[in-house]
Amino acid sequence: MTLEDIRKIVKDAAKAIRDRHSGPMPRIAVQLGSGLAGVAKAVKTTTELSYSEIPGFPKPSVEGHAGLLLIGEIGGTEVLWLQGRVHFYEGRGLDSVLIMIRTLKALGIEALVLTNAAGSLNPGMAPGGLMAISDHINLTGTNPLIGPNDDAVGPRFPDMTEAYDRRLRKLLHTAADDIGIELNDGVYIMAKGPNFETPAEIRAFRTLGADAVGMSTVPECLVANHCGIRVVGISSLTNLAAGLSDVPLTHEETMREGKIAGENLVVVLSDFLKRLDRSSR
Ligand code: HPA
Repeated sequence: MTLEDIRKIVKDAAKAIRDRHSGPMPRIAVQLGSGLAGVAKAVKTTTELSYSEIPGFPKPSVEGHAGLLLIGEIGGTEVLWLQGRVHFYEGRGLDSVLIMIRTLKALGIEALVLTNAAGSLNPGMAPGGLMAISDHINLTGTNPLIGPNDDAVGPRFPDMTEAYDRRLRKLLHTAADDIGIELNDGVYIMAKGPNFETPAEIRAFRTLGADAVGMSTVPECLVANHCGIRVVGISSLTNLAAGLSDVPLTHEETMREGKIAGENLVVVLSDFLKRLDRSSR
């Protein structure tokens, strides 16, 4: 796709969303990852669009990814919710990540909370728990920002020193501490998938400094930072990574444990979003 193609699709996508939403646009967006769609049940939805109604948005294909954009409040805070994302392993490229995140920017979104399901590499972080992403390692060998740069959107060589906003992460910790939910900081490593990793890969990732492994989030984080949206990342730890426990890994287990972590996530998110909304006014 050319820069002009992407600009036009982003403009059309933003219009499609604005046309359907009567109130003011929220300034905060949350992307819900695998097994976390249940979080949307806690949202009082005022506007709902299927991704198929929004130009350039992907029709998700993995179980647990609905393909819905919602606008609605949780605990009194208005939020735009992305329920569903495209994964690199689906083989559909990453243009839709560019389009979705830049559409958020066009709508005036200032902060984006990225959630995912991830395997834990850290014995101190048990399945069922949550991890605040402090940094990431992009192991995919690719990047949605490859291609001509749109200088009107962001710089050719974007800085990633603080890809996950420090101040917002502090606010997230304050929320978790107040509620009494354990939340550790950790480094997320993105593997391409679709297979779960081998035990040798997991040992290598630990040596590289990773605490959790997953197959998403990094592309969205890169595009958001590039266009000036501040990012918060939360992993729900669904399993111990390959070789760290006796049981083989399955998508079903990921979904099941993700639901448990999801219950804690709703509580932390709701409190965090309230604080975030207040702090940015
Ligand atoms: N590896 C990669 N992705 C994952 C995992 C894992 O162990 N668990 C949930 N998503």
